[in-house]
Amino acid sequence: MMARQARTHAATRPPTGIEPLALDREEVATLADVRRLAVGCQRCGLYKHATQVVTGEGGEHSRLVLVGEQPGDQEDQQGRPFVGPAGRLLDQCLREADLDRDECYVTNAVKHFKFERRGKRRIHERPNAGEVQACRWWLDRELKIIEPQLVVALGATAVQALLGRGISVMKQRGQVLPDPGGLQVLVTVHPSYLLRIPASDAAEHARAAFIEDLRSIHAILGK
Ligand code: URA
Repeated sequence: MMARQARTHAATRPPTGIEPLALDREEVATLADVRRLAVGCQRCGLYKHATQVVTGEGGEHSRLVLVGEQPGDQEDQQGRPFVGPAGRLLDQCLREADLDRDECYVTNAVKHFKFERRGKRRIHERPNAGEVQACRWWLDRELKIIEPQLVVALGATAVQALLGRGISVMKQRGQVLPDPGGLQVLVTVHPSYLLRIPASDAAEHARAAFIEDLRSIHAILGK
């Protein structure tokens, strides 16, 4: 049964010119394995234009995992998640919610930057369902190794990757939902959403609501 499933999976995957099965057979037991093996990932076409793969950052025993969408321009250049504008906002909001980023594992649903070139600029493009699905392989491994108590889905792409289905983030934010493997997933917005709201009372409210979602983590973790 297992062998048949594996063959079907391989047969339906788009041809990439690499040996995905060789990668599938590699033992991925530690986060160091994830970092080492993901460098050669060609599970979808995004590796072709990105500078490098950006895997997660943080401890193997983190109780809390934060999942974003995909690396942005600065993350792609530095090879680290959430180090650009959205990352700086996330850091500020975590601090305001009395959470320590150093105690979290921070990663993305998709590990390569997807963008459209406009002149010299590289404009973020949302990953499609196939890319999210292909990269779920890595997210699965990160989560299996860490076994966190709580996973925070930052925005719709992370929700799709974690729950395997789309839900309304605005309607269900602040809720903890089980993923198919039984992990607890707290749904909230992506910090980039806050950056897009022009300075106003509405922007302040949106930021406060995000911090409130983050603050709820203390009770969930039983801190
Ligand atoms: N947005 C994300 O979702 N992840 C990053 O790492 C940076 C920006």
